[in-house]
Amino acid sequence: MKDKWGRTIDYLRLSLTDRCNLRCRYCMPEALDSVGHDAVLRYEEMMLICRAALALGIDRFKITGGEPLVRKGAVSFMQSLKDMDGVRSVTMTTNGLLLSAVLPDLVRFGIDGINVSIDTLDASQYACLTGGGNLSVLLQALKEAISQRVNIKVNAVLLAETRNQILPLAELARTYPIDVRFIELMPIGFGTTLDGISEAEALSLLVRAYPDLAATGERRGNGPASYYQSRYLQGRIGFIAANTHGFCSSCNRLRLTSTGFLKPCLCYDDGVDLRAIVRSGQRENLIFQELQRAIAGAIYEKPAKHCFAEKNHISEHKTMNQIGG
Ligand code: GTP
Ligand code: 5AD
Ligand code: SF4
Repeated sequence: MKDKWGRTIDYLRLSLTDRCNLRCRYCMPEALDSVGHDAVLRYEEMMLICRAALALGIDRFKITGGEPLVRKGAVSFMQSLKDMDGVRSVTMTTNGLLLSAVLPDLVRFGIDGINVSIDTLDASQYACLTGGGNLSVLLQALKEAISQRVNIKVNAVLLAETRNQILPLAELARTYPIDVRFIELMPIGFGTTLDGISEAEALSLLVRAYPDLAATGERRGNGPASYYQSRYLQGRIGFIAANTHGFCSSCNRLRLTSTGFLKPCLCYDDGVDLRAIVRSGQRENLIFQELQRAIAGAIYEKPAKHCFAEKNHISEHKTMNQIGG
């Protein structure tokens, strides 16, 4: 279905939980008061919402968090989603620390891609940035996933303090056939408390190491990244530059928080409470119809673009772990 700006909306990001086993400084540096158990949608409730979304043409799903793998049953949920008739892709974005144990199951059901966050390859800096994360556990999981031929992308947020990690991180795309994407720090939640660097600055460093680096203009996955290639690299270098290269005009997505709040854009507080509909006590077919109406309305009313430049409009009440990245 199209929104009122003519964009086709066919991608839903589902945050399974706002909880996380890490404390990334730009995301949730302290244990935020996590929402109560009852407030979080049960998997059957999420699945009903996904079915209603699918009926409107949303056939690609991204599983996020917090950290999705801290929620029990996450893998079975992803598998059920993948098994639903008409679903084109199910992918997950994870910090990777709990990945090893569930990798065989993810491979078995045919997950379409896993994005792994690695902001630095310096173990002590990683521990400091993430509030105690163990980089070797993450790298071990990454190698296992690569050896299982999973479609892997590395996500690295561009921070001033990790500038010297841009080249080591890009090397991952030389060593392995995986994409490495650099993400401009967005001024959302605790993202306002650190200094980021721009795509242009990162690109100028990368071009010195890979002089033939050239934009490919291709679409890889469902997200907003733009990609570059070099003959020295097996994978691509990607950029997600929400601040300096707005990609809102080609936005294709909605977001669902773990409490069932449907957000048309990550930047605004506006949205629709789908949990109230799911729990309204009506017959399931009526709930389904009402969900479809509510999702269609949210699609139609999707804002034209994010509001990062107008600081006053940035959501103060939602942090990245709640929004789902
Ligand atoms: P794939 O490439 O298909 O895997 O999707 P993706 O890039 O959307 O997935 P991922 O969850 O890895 O997100 C990477 C980064 O892009 C995160 O920092 C997200 O916050 C950011 N991002 C994803 N969607 C949007 C969006 O609609 N707007 C903005 N500003 N940032 C987004
Ligand atoms: N700006 C940009 N990316 C962010 N992420 C979390 N917070 C921010 C932010 N403020 C990233 C994580 C992960 C993805 C889901 O979102 O590092 O890779
Ligand atoms: Fe957890 Fe991801 Fe937020 Fe880090 S960025 S605290 S890994 S949800």
